[in-house]
Amino acid sequence: MTQYYNVEAVRKLFPVVEKMTYLDSGFQTPLSKPVKDALETFIKQSYETAGPKSIWIDRMESTRAKVAALLNAASEEIAFTKNTSEAMNIAANALPLKAGDNVLMVHGDHPNNAYAFLNLKKKGVEIRFIPMTEVVDAASFRPHIDANTKAISMSHVTFHAGHRFNIESVGQLCKEMSLYYVLDVMQAVGVVPIDAKKVGATFIGSGTHKGLLVPQGLGLLYWDKSRTELEPAYLATISVANPPADFIALPDDMAPAATAGRFELGNFNLPATHALGAALDLISEVGVEKIQAHCFDLGDRLIAGLDELGVRLVGPRDRAHRAPHIYVAALPAEEWIDFFASKDVRLSPERDGVRISLGMFNTEADIDRFLQVVKERNASEGRTTKAA
Ligand SMILES: Cc1ncc(COP(=O)(O)O)c(C=O)c1O
Repeated sequence: MTQYYNVEAVRKLFPVVEKMTYLDSGFQTPLSKPVKDALETFIKQSYETAGPKSIWIDRMESTRAKVAALLNAASEEIAFTKNTSEAMNIAANALPLKAGDNVLMVHGDHPNNAYAFLNLKKKGVEIRFIPMTEVVDAASFRPHIDANTKAISMSHVTFHAGHRFNIESVGQLCKEMSLYYVLDVMQAVGVVPIDAKKVGATFIGSGTHKGLLVPQGLGLLYWDKSRTELEPAYLATISVANPPADFIALPDDMAPAATAGRFELGNFNLPATHALGAALDLISEVGVEKIQAHCFDLGDRLIAGLDELGVRLVGPRDRAHRAPHIYVAALPAEEWIDFFASKDVRLSPERDGVRISLGMFNTEADIDRFLQVVKERNASEGRTTKAA
């Protein structure tokens, strides 16, 4: 296999993956040494000095700049949130939608995106789901657009079968039809390169506990800062343009901040922003393009192995339409998931099988181990997997 980067050296930064076959980055990342160190730095400073808050805030701002660089955005276009769900809800409620308007989404896409928009039904906004097909692009949405369509929202990469939808093509369509465009990149970010400007997104939301290598509790929101008409549904001191110096709220001066800070509320998850800063350093050192290429190659090996075993791949096979790092094998989860656990192979149950999801530290040996476990069980039980 091509060595795009020193995978063995990266692997050493994630020591827990030596104790098991970890194929579950689409669920959550294992903790790496640099991220652990960053969290410990924060804890030590808080424990020993009661906390240099201004330094922590400076570090958070430097993390914000790193997020912006990752998405080809400006720092002022990045807000920190709690997770993807919060980012999608902020986005959905900032769009100037009224009764009778409609938003297009993809049926069966992640519910944390869907509910954020379905909740707008209270305002009389209609949510229309287009079918989930192997390829979703502008042509998939175009026939569903009418005069009342105001926005499209979708995932970049699907969690349940590893589709990688054509977000550039849908972005072009949104531009052409003057639609707002909201993306959930939770399963893509950190592994698939994302260029907010090229895509033409209005908002991009994500958590950080998968490809961005941070424990749960921190999310991101990109906001196209040229869309100044998009205002936050909630307000706090940090979200206004002129926060009162004397901490007495100014009822007549509540214009939102000129930056994505308008969507932020109160104090930040500072330990997690430290962690994310370290994670983004590691990701940029390795390079997202290289992580993607490495995962694609591992995916090719997995698909070839599944073919040999007669196990169907659930999502798209073609590199043009599949995510590099998320694969579902049609092995019924209720029959297989405990078995994999008993063999120290960590993966997730999914709608149509078991999900193998990869991170920058995975190797060919991890793929081979997964395939070997399937092969041995089938041999010992005298079954073929063709019917699965
Ligand atoms: C596409 C997608 N969106 C969102 C989430 C998670 O949402 P949150 O970050 O709010 O927990 C996941 C998986 O956990 C996901 O796969």
